[in-house]
Amino acid sequence: MAVRIAVLASGRGSNLQALLDARTRGALDVEFAGVFSDRADAAALQRARDAGVHAQALSPKAHATRAAFDAALFAAVAAVQPQLIVCAGYMRIIDDAVVAAHTGRMINIHPSLLPRHRGLHTHEGVLSAGEREHGASVHYVTPELDGGPVIAQVRMDVRDGDTPATLAQRLLPLEHELLVATVALAAAGRIALDGEHVRLDAARLAAPLLLERGRLHVR
Ligand code: GRF
Repeated sequence: MAVRIAVLASGRGSNLQALLDARTRGALDVEFAGVFSDRADAAALQRARDAGVHAQALSPKAHATRAAFDAALFAAVAAVQPQLIVCAGYMRIIDDAVVAAHTGRMINIHPSLLPRHRGLHTHEGVLSAGEREHGASVHYVTPELDGGPVIAQVRMDVRDGDTPATLAQRLLPLEHELLVATVALAAAGRIALDGEHVRLDAARLAAPLLLERGRLHVR
């Protein structure tokens, strides 16, 4: 039976769309249990509805604390009984207790080569550090922001004249490929979190998997 996934997204939802499209073309064996957002106006919710997927927004303002909001949000997520939770452009920090309750079952896509450039403004960070390489990472979510063990990465050259906007634009399709490939691996039951490490099949990864020519490779 296909693994049930829930997706959390705050905005545009192009990463969600990549997952939906992969499912449609038969490249991703998952069942979408639901899409959840902290913003009622997130385009991601409409993408879900258009695909016939349960879509639900909860307002942080309607809750007194971050912990109360996260408890309510994750109760709604739990109600659709996902086996895997995918944060795809979900822009809120999640309460530690909620994260801890889902360790090993929640992953996030982040637009940098972690551990470099955690948090926001990753493209600006790459340029101001004068780096010649950029990329994206999919990692397990742990209480440390963007600090959980990295499952897989995709790399991209920085070109002369790049701006944050050109980096973001060139990276996005690579993010989509990376997320689809990593979710496919997770859905196949091939990856697991083992303390601070990631296991692929039975073996501990010495480094994150690398996406090259559309496939994930062990390094
Ligand atoms: C992506 O760059 C993701 O890595 C970042 O936010 C962006 C979300 O894009 N955290 P989208 O909503 O999936 O289009």
